[in-house]
Amino acid sequence: MKNKKIIIAISASIAAYKAAFLVRLLVKAGANVKVIITPAAKEFVTPLTLSTLSKNPVFSDFVLNKNGEWTNHVDLGLWADLMVIAPASANTIAKMANGICDNLLIATYLSAKCPIMFGPAMDLDMFIHPTTVQNCAKLQSFGNIMIDANEGELASGLNGKGRMAEPEEIFSVIEKHFNSEQDLLGKIALVTAGPTYEIIDPVRFIGNYSSGKMGFALAEELANRGALVTLIAGPVEIIHHHKNITRINVHSATQMFEAVNENFSTTNIAIMCAAVADYSPITVADEKIKKQNEEGLTIELKKTKDILKHIGSIKTNKQIVVGFALETNHEEENALIKLKEKKADFIVLNSLQTPGAGFKHNTNQITILKNSGEKIAFNLKSKNDVAIDIVNEIVKITNTIDA
Ligand code: CTP
Repeated sequence: MKNKKIIIAISASIAAYKAAFLVRLLVKAGANVKVIITPAAKEFVTPLTLSTLSKNPVFSDFVLNKNGEWTNHVDLGLWADLMVIAPASANTIAKMANGICDNLLIATYLSAKCPIMFGPAMDLDMFIHPTTVQNCAKLQSFGNIMIDANEGELASGLNGKGRMAEPEEIFSVIEKHFNSEQDLLGKIALVTAGPTYEIIDPVRFIGNYSSGKMGFALAEELANRGALVTLIAGPVEIIHHHKNITRINVHSATQMFEAVNENFSTTNIAIMCAAVADYSPITVADEKIKKQNEEGLTIELKKTKDILKHIGSIKTNKQIVVGFALETNHEEENALIKLKEKKADFIVLNSLQTPGAGFKHNTNQITILKNSGEKIAFNLKSKNDVAIDIVNEIVKITNTIDA
């Protein structure tokens, strides 16, 4: 925590007073804290209290002082190692989810390159309203970390879920975030994520339902633990947050192959998490294909290159290669064939038969099958926690081969 640069961003909620305690805890632990407060939140806690506790000026407006000096939200966003929005009101969560940039807090959120945490605080009916539920899910799908609200007595007098997590709880999430072991410091990692789109004509493509969430969670976890990560992402809408991640956007399986091939030789750890198309149209029509006859339409496809198989065949014994297997039947048998044929160090098996696992979900349930014959089955967990399990297994291998 010492010398970590943390923005505490406070929106209008009765829980704003708790943010003052959080600032105090962080400063006591040696963090450098800057506070952003929305104009409406000043009704709940004063900037004077917050500047005294944080030992820094408090930011609220785009114009900093009467000389017309500007508060540079981009600089603030770049300065921070972490931004924690707590309390995050229903209004602020909705603005974050939709990019409605009408105050300094949201402008900084949109400019920040660091990990973002948000702690919702609102009345129980607001918290369970489908709009809020969807907004919170959307924010998490962008890689933001939600510090869930607690159940209990609310300011309205009602009892239910919506109380902001206590300052001590938020502090411990932050502490855990910064204390994650830097056991991959100096390592270079490569991760593929998301689907690929194989173009048929200017308006159509062959794609799949992959959301990219698992691959992005892996890239974040590798980066949290000190690795420099190149994230090769198919067409997905997720945002990455870690400064250690360099993202290369690709569209097709061929582009993904080329990007991996270009980067693999300098890589210590490669995780092929993308759902790569196995086939791609032989010809791409320049113009939209029109309806032609009643019998139907045949599109001829050619096989794409298997990226995992390629890097598995050229990897040195100092490089670790991990693949995924998404199966619907004979899961383990199929995954073991992939492990062998693609020469991976291990395969992460997930089955579409498991409720809550696979594409789109925020959770996953995996089994790791190693080339040593070891098999480790894990429970259904959030994709962030699954990423921790996978990276733990990678670290065990790096310790034995010093990759
Ligand atoms: N993979 C790859 N390049 C491809 C196809 C797959 O790198 N052209 C990788 C995936 O990223 C994943 C692993 O291979 O790590 C297994 O992918 P999966 O789609 O489960 O299996 P396939 O090998 O494509 O075989 P099948 O579709 O027949 O199950």
